[in-house]
Amino acid sequence: MLKIVVGISGSSGVVLGIKLLEFLKKKGWESHLIITEIAEKIIEHETDYKVEYVEKLATKFHNNSDLFASIASGSFKTEGMVIVPCSMKTLAGVASGYSENLLLRTADVMLKERRKLVLVTRETPLSMIHIKNMERVTRAGGIILPPVISLYSKPKSLDEMENHIVGKILDTLGIENDLYERWE
Ligand SMILES: Cc1cc2nc3c(=O)[nH]c(=O)nc-3n(C[C@H](O)[C@H](O)[C@H](O)COP(=O)(O)O)c2cc1C
Repeated sequence: MLKIVVGISGSSGVVLGIKLLEFLKKKGWESHLIITEIAEKIIEHETDYKVEYVEKLATKFHNNSDLFASIASGSFKTEGMVIVPCSMKTLAGVASGYSENLLLRTADVMLKERRKLVLVTRETPLSMIHIKNMERVTRAGGIILPPVISLYSKPKSLDEMENHIVGKILDTLGIENDLYERWE
């Protein structure tokens, strides 16, 4: 079965990670999920979802401190990883190869194995440190995909805007989806 790793870090926009997991579950993908400590709190603060619900969306939920997990090794084959949303702290960890937790270690594995790594970086405005970290990750083969809303599609709801971003993430991974209306 095709496998994708999803990381949810402590940034605004956690609903995007939840929607991605819902999509992967519906389409029968094997998903491996890591949620950072602060992201769990943000899920409860920013959305109507319970962390237990989000954990159960994944085929396998991994504790962020479990460096013995399957996904911590390059020998465990996956199609790629998305960190959505990705905080500036987690971005810095990926950019510097500082693999102190499972989320960062797995992202590091994606880069070293030359697999897809998509970071949905959320912060505004950006400092030069943020921009340089994004540059480093891009040079190492990662994809920076900020959750930018599209207005050309004239979205009628927040749900539509969120679906558009999740659709763009899936496009980047090469996963077929009809989550947004394409420009014809
Ligand atoms: C409600 C809330 C929203 C936050 N939003 C952001 C954000 O949008 N971007 C960001 O870089 N950090 C944001 N932070 C700060 C991070 O959570 C903080 O830097 C944390 O150390 C990130 O840790 P993690 O990447 O291990 O989850 C937010 C914090 C809180 C409490």
